[in-house]
Amino acid sequence: MTVQVKNITHTYRTADLAEQNVLNDVTFHLNAGEQLLLRGISGSGKTTLINILAGLLTPTAGTITINDQPIYTLPESQRDAWRRDHIGYVFQTHHLLPTLKAWENVALPLRVAGVSGKEAKSASYDLLAQLGLKGKERNRPSQLSVGQRQRVAIARALVNNPVLVLADEPTASLDESAAATALDLLQEHCRAQNTMLIVASHDPALNKRFGRIADLNQGDWLEGAVA
Ligand SMILES: Nc1ncnc2c1ncn2[C@@H]1O[C@H](COP(=O)(O)OP(=O)(O)OP(=O)(O)O)[C@@H](O)[C@H]1O
Ligand SMILES: [Mg+2]
Repeated sequence: MTVQVKNITHTYRTADLAEQNVLNDVTFHLNAGEQLLLRGISGSGKTTLINILAGLLTPTAGTITINDQPIYTLPESQRDAWRRDHIGYVFQTHHLLPTLKAWENVALPLRVAGVSGKEAKSASYDLLAQLGLKGKERNRPSQLSVGQRQRVAIARALVNNPVLVLADEPTASLDESAAATALDLLQEHCRAQNTMLIVASHDPALNKRFGRIADLNQGDWLEGAVA
């Protein structure tokens, strides 16, 4: 299992805004089980890069190859299916569906992938229990604390056993102890499954948790800089 990112450049071009070059020639490689922290000030392009890695945003130039599949050569409909099977995404704003219960939010990727309702429910309950949410399965997002919602979003990203988990500021709305718990769960789960993990964050408390740290600075990828 690998992720190969080669010469990714991205420029936002919209009719009403000045052209903005966000990523310059970003190149890196991840091996199975590797965990990387992606840092950079607000507006440096972290979410842009994560969206490109998730197959959601076609880069202006460059290639992304995940498990030998160059993802932007897939037609869009196949890319959507590919994403469901391979990527777990914890969004910066966690995007839970407000009308669904916690377990139904977690089960959604399984249901879309064709897993039976019973099996999906059981897998979702298991994962929520592992994330400390036993008894909260039937709460809707508005009936959960912010930290609990974040954990449901993490459970939803992990439920399909993806090969790559992308987490965009997963601790942004959490206090120090809830952030540590959420990160522990995410990292331990990925370690146990040998899943690759990229976490975007500007929280310095995360530095010590990662073997690999990269900074986005004016569009450039700098890896190995002193924390
Ligand atoms: N759809 C878009 N069209 C035009 N410009 C955009 C678009 N999305 C983002 N940008 C610009 O691209 C730059 C990078 O944005 P991005 O969201 O990737 O930053 P970020 O590092 O995730 O920031 P934050 O830490 O605040 O989440 C910003 O300057 C932003 O204004
Ligand atoms: Mg962002």
